[in-house]
Amino acid sequence: MVEMTTQEIQQQAGKILSQVAGYVGTRTINMGMRFGLFEEIAKHPTGITAEALATKKGLDPFYVRVWARSAYASEVLEVGDSDAYTLAPHMDKLLVNQDFPGYLGAITEVMLQPEIFDRFADNFHSGQRIWWDDCGPEFIRGVSATGRTFYNRLIPNGFSQVPGLTERLTQGARVLETACGAGAGLVKMAQAYPQSSFVGVDGDSYSLELAGELLRDSGLEGKVSLTRSTLEEFSADGEFDMVLNNISMHECRDIDRVTRNVHQALRPDGYFIISDFPFPESIEECRTVPARIMSGIQFFEALIDDQLLSKKAYIELLGKHGFRNVSAFDITPVHAVTHGQK
Ligand SMILES: C[S@@+](CC[C@H](N)C(=O)[O-])C[C@H]1O[C@@H](n2cnc3c(N)ncnc32)[C@H](O)[C@@H]1O
Repeated sequence: MVEMTTQEIQQQAGKILSQVAGYVGTRTINMGMRFGLFEEIAKHPTGITAEALATKKGLDPFYVRVWARSAYASEVLEVGDSDAYTLAPHMDKLLVNQDFPGYLGAITEVMLQPEIFDRFADNFHSGQRIWWDDCGPEFIRGVSATGRTFYNRLIPNGFSQVPGLTERLTQGARVLETACGAGAGLVKMAQAYPQSSFVGVDGDSYSLELAGELLRDSGLEGKVSLTRSTLEEFSADGEFDMVLNNISMHECRDIDRVTRNVHQALRPDGYFIISDFPFPESIEECRTVPARIMSGIQFFEALIDDQLLSKKAYIELLGKHGFRNVSAFDITPVHAVTHGQK
């Protein structure tokens, strides 16, 4: 009996300690990203020693040794003969290649920004909420880098799962992106569908400033126009073939009003595409790795006074507002698409 209890306690302690080990891995991966260490190691497929890595990056050799051992412990690096480190299998895609649809290099930076946990804790007593205009530039850039991976999965592969959509976009469509943020999706779409024209609307000035810069740098200014407005106030009449919303629909202050606005903005047969984190419907489903990460994102969502929604909630929303052919599919465990036609 006593032995059983000891075993159970050890098992339960393991649950806490694995979270602490995860924190160590998160910080280690984040440092590797910030200092360009994974990128450098990727250039040396036969391996690079910590000392050589330190010289290449102008860092302290002892510190780099400590970092590399921790990255090995977290299974993102491998070590070979003569203590030469290489990236663990597929880490070149997951941590280095920003265009890989499963890229995970941005998530640690977002998780470590004060907007996720610190500001929530600061406001735990007061319950005070903030909005995007009170978020730091690093957070907004980090979220945009994460959003970019969602766009990479969506354009063109995710869109191709919606019957008739790719044809419409390829022939030349008028597209509205609601909550376009820093513009990564507008650029990707404008490059993929050169016959189409695009409007981006967002409520946050700083995000739109970044979007403007990105469009200028990509030579796409003439193809895309930007408007600052809340989605609740933005209205258009039967003008668009597609309205896209990426990782933002759950943030609407009045989701019914926004959905009515989208319906009105679409041409007959026009598509509404909601690409978002699919939060579990029940608390029991929250104990998976993807749901644990989404539970972390919920701290920020609470800070801006909303919560991630389930796929079911979006299917009901589109049905309630008269959309036809409503359907949903998963792209990854943290990325689902719900769509319907006017
Ligand atoms: C999570 S970010 C995503 C931005 C972009 N779609 C991406 O994936 O990179 C959410 C964006 O939605 C905008 N937003 C949220 N609620 C809004 C609302 N009610 N009206 C207008 N913009 C809103 C914010 O300003 C922010 O830029």
